[in-house]
Formats: sequence, C-alpha cells, structure tokens
Amino acid sequence: MKDIIFLINLILIIFKFHSTVHAQSEALARLWDVNDDDLPAMLAIERNLKKVDGILNQFINNSDFGGTWIDVKANKVFINTLSTANVSYITSLPEVQPYVDLLNFTIVDNPTDKLSDSFEQIVKLAKEKNAVDVYLYVDISLNNIVIYLEQNQSDSKNSEFINATDQYNPILIYQPPDPPNTKQQSAMKLNNDRRQVEKDILCGEGIYRKKGNVIDYLCSIGFLANDANKPDTTLAVTTGHCHTDRGSNIFYYFPWGDRPEGTLLGLMVTHRVKDYDYGLIELKRRGIRPLPMIRNTDANQYKQLQIRDTQTISNHGAHLCKSGHTTHATCGYIKAFDGIFIDSESFNNELIITDIEGDVGDSGGPAYYYYENLLTVNLSGIFTGGNRGIGSVLPLQIILDETEIVPILVNG
Ligand SMILES: *[C@@H]1O[C@H](CO)[C@@H](O)[C@H](O)[C@H]1NC(C)=O
Ligand SMILES: *[C@@H]1O[C@H](CO)[C@@H](O)[C@H](O)[C@H]1NC(C)=O
Ligand SMILES: *[C@@H]1O[C@H](CO)[C@@H](O)[C@H](O)[C@H]1NC(C)=O
Ligand SMILES: *[C@@H]1O[C@H](CO)[C@@H](O)[C@H](O)[C@H]1NC(C)=O
Ligand SMILES: *[C@@H]1O[C@H](CO)[C@@H](O)[C@H](O)[C@H]1NC(C)=O
Ligand SMILES: *[C@@H]1O[C@H](CO)[C@@H](O)[C@H](O)[C@H]1NC(C)=O
Repeated sequence: MKDIIFLINLILIIFKFHSTVHAQSEALARLWDVNDDDLPAMLAIERNLKKVDGILNQFINNSDFGGTWIDVKANKVFINTLSTANVSYITSLPEVQPYVDLLNFTIVDNPTDKLSDSFEQIVKLAKEKNAVDVYLYVDISLNNIVIYLEQNQSDSKNSEFINATDQYNPILIYQPPDPPNTKQQSAMKLNNDRRQVEKDILCGEGIYRKKGNVIDYLCSIGFLANDANKPDTTLAVTTGHCHTDRGSNIFYYFPWGDRPEGTLLGLMVTHRVKDYDYGLIELKRRGIRPLPMIRNTDANQYKQLQIRDTQTISNHGAHLCKSGHTTHATCGYIKAFDGIFIDSESFNNELIITDIEGDVGDSGGPAYYYYENLLTVNLSGIFTGGNRGIGSVLPLQIILDETEIVPILVNG
C-alpha cells in the first residue's frame, strides 16, 4: 500500500514537473515570456490596448505626431509626438481621459509625414541604385526608417545605395552571422510508404516539389480557399516563390517532424513573385482532407487552431504568429506596415514587417493572431520570408484583391 502511494506521489511529482517545464508550450507565451495559463489575461490587456490605440488614432495627425504602438508587457500605448503641447492636447480629450494611465508619450524629431517622405525617397533610391536583398520599412518605435541588409558590414554589396541614403540618416541593420548548423533538407530521402487512408491536411503543414527522388523545394500551406468561379475547387495558398520555371510544379505533402510523404496534393496553377509573393495550388479531390485549421501541435492544449475570421490588424506592437513546417508556430511583434523586400527577382511591397522567427521551408505558412481565446484566430496573411530578427507577411487582403478566391473558414 505504502509503495503504491509512493508511486502515485512520484507520478504526481513527475506530472507536475512535466507541466511546469511545458508551461510555455504556446508560441505566444514564449513571446510574452509568461506561462500558458497567463495568456487569457494578457490577451485581455492586448484587446484593451488595441481599443485605446484605436481611440488615439482618431485624434492624432501625421504632422504633429510620429505614430503610436502598443506594448502588452508594459501595458502601455506609446505615442510619439513633437512637443509637450501635443501631450496636453491629447490627455485633455474627454475620450482619452479614462485611459491616461495607459499612455506613455515620447518627444521625437520626426512626425509621420516626414518619415513617409524620407521613406519614399529611399525607395526611389533603392530602384535607381538597384538595391538587392534588403528590407525597407518605417519603424515607429525607433522613429526612423530601417534598412535591413542581408549581408555583413564588410560586404561592398549595395554600397552605392547605402551611400545615397546617408542624407536621410536611416538605421542600417546588417544580418547577423548564421549559426553554425545549416539544415540540409534537399538531400532527404523520400518516404514512399503511401497508405490508403484520407490524410488530414492542416494549414502550416509542409509541401514540396521534387526533382527525381529528392526534394527540390520545401514550403508551407498558408490557408485554404475556394475559387469564386469554380466553387467546388479547393485551393491551397502559399508563396509564389515556391514555383519553379524549370521543372515540375506538382506539390506533395510533408508533415511536420516526419519524413516527406508521397501523398500528392496538386499543381500550382497561379503564381506571382515580382510585386506580391503568392501561389495557388489546386488540390486534388481524393485521398486528402484539407482542413481550415492551423497546426499548433507543440502546444499542450490547443493543437489545432480554428481560422474563424479575417479581420485586418493595424496596431504596431501587436502580436502576430505564423505556423510553418520548419520552425512550427512562432510569434513576434508587428514593427511596420507597407514594408518592402527586394531581391534579384522581386520588389515586394505592402508587407507587414515583424520579428517572427522563420526558416527555409516556412514560406507560405499562415500568419494569424489571437483575440478572444487561444482556440480561434484571425487569418492575417501568409509568411513570405525573413532573416535573423525579421519576418515578412503578405496581407490576406492583397491576395484576395488580386485573385478570385474565397478563404475557407471554420464557421463559428
Ligand atoms: C494636427 O492636429 C492638431 C490637433 O488636432 C491640430 O491642432 C493641428 O492643426 C493639426 N495639424 C494639421 C497640419 O492638420
Ligand atoms: C503640437 O506641437 C507642434 C510643435 O510644437 C505645434 O506646432 C502644434 O501646435 C501642437 N499641436 C497641438 C494640438 O498642441
Ligand atoms: C515610458 O517609457 C519609457 C521607456 O520604456 C520608460 O523609461 C518610462 O519610465 C515610461 N514612463 C511612464 C510614465 O510610464
Ligand atoms: C562578409 O561577406 C562577404 C561576402 O559574402 C564574405 O566574403 C566575407 O567573408 C564576410 N565577412 C565576414 C567577416 O563574415
Ligand atoms: C561609399 O562610401 C564609402 C565611405 O565614404 C566609400 O569608401 C565607398 O567607396 C562609397 N561607395 C560607393 C560605391 O560610392
Ligand atoms: C478577429 O479580430 C476581431 C478584431 O480585430 C475580433 O473582433 C474578432 O473577435 C476576432 N476573431 C477571432 C476568432 O479571434
């Protein structure tokens, strides 16, 4: 008897230890550095800050202010402004007065107007000087333009462009060096064990093209949609750069943490890379069961997130998450809207710039945010790429404006 009680206690202790260790099983808990259990309260704080941010933005203009952003961990809305006169103007507004304790004003040099002008000039220079492998965006919290360069400081690449932007004093961020272990995915052997059962395919899962019997390129599924003109067609949306001009554009299924499977998903029927980076795969009808849910397997509780809404997000500093094959679910903060990414084949614009972590193979995965709870989410777009400390998202609305597709949601 004693032994049994001892054993039960031991199991309980192990269980408790286990659940404490995994208290940050949610990507959002890791971002905010709280336990999973604290997330509902933190989401309530974020909802409140978003509301206050919305109220403030009815009153601030681009000539006297330099933008606002929310900080959930500090429970504050930060407001950049030019003078203390502007501070008292805002705090005396009856609509704002109930929330003054949540405000933190910073006196800055650059109003939004001026930042927008400099940004336009820098974008113009990027075109003239053929800048390549750079991200450009306005960072509200830094009150400046950021040029993120995918190169080290001693690399002479882009130096003409960099020199030309000097007059606008942008912040230059050079890509930090890569960690030593680089993944080698293309050499992986395929798993040819095809079972006959219907496979559930979630958003965030891996998909790949092959060349012979090896993986040629790996991406992730962003979300599912119907063709507005052919409602019985199901499409999987991912990035356009998963497409190849030389070879097959038939995609197969590669579940997380497993070996690639032979399960055929379908052909990429539409793609774009130059200005916007998206592609549509027409899913075949048999053998697979695509679901409008996001894979979040590493979480203890909410392993499949329901895509319920598509409300756009407009708050700087708010969280945004992505799900993808390589780094799974990760979250970051929104740093900018209308960001730009330039490489040898594209000049992508209107990107949401975040610090979401991602890696090769995550491209195309869904970008989403929580609002009410940890089970249902709003779809914001697809993760298009990134580097150390930076991750870009193509907003859903752009994909919908450019194509004739209707996203498939879980009906609430
Ligand atoms: C900006 O807003 C403030 C407060 O509403 C107002 O006093 C100021 O005239 C506005 N400036 C411009 C250029 O509209
Ligand atoms: C805001 O500050 C600027 C610069 O000091 C000033 O010109 C403007 O009148 C202020 N606006 C308000 C509404 O206080
Ligand atoms: C405002 O934010 C700054 C920077 O985070 C901080 O140092 C300062 O204490 C804050 N002020 C208030 C009144 O919260
Ligand atoms: C910087 O980048 C260049 C070009 O890629 C490379 O040749 C050089 O070794 C790099 N230098 C350092 C210090 O990493
Ligand atoms: C850019 O400026 C640096 C420092 O002034 C100079 O050494 C370099 O030659 C310039 N590069 C170009 C392409 O003008
Ligand atoms: C989506 O976001 C809007 C506001 O941004 C919110 O009202 C709605 O409840 C959200 N839906 C879900 C499922 O989180």
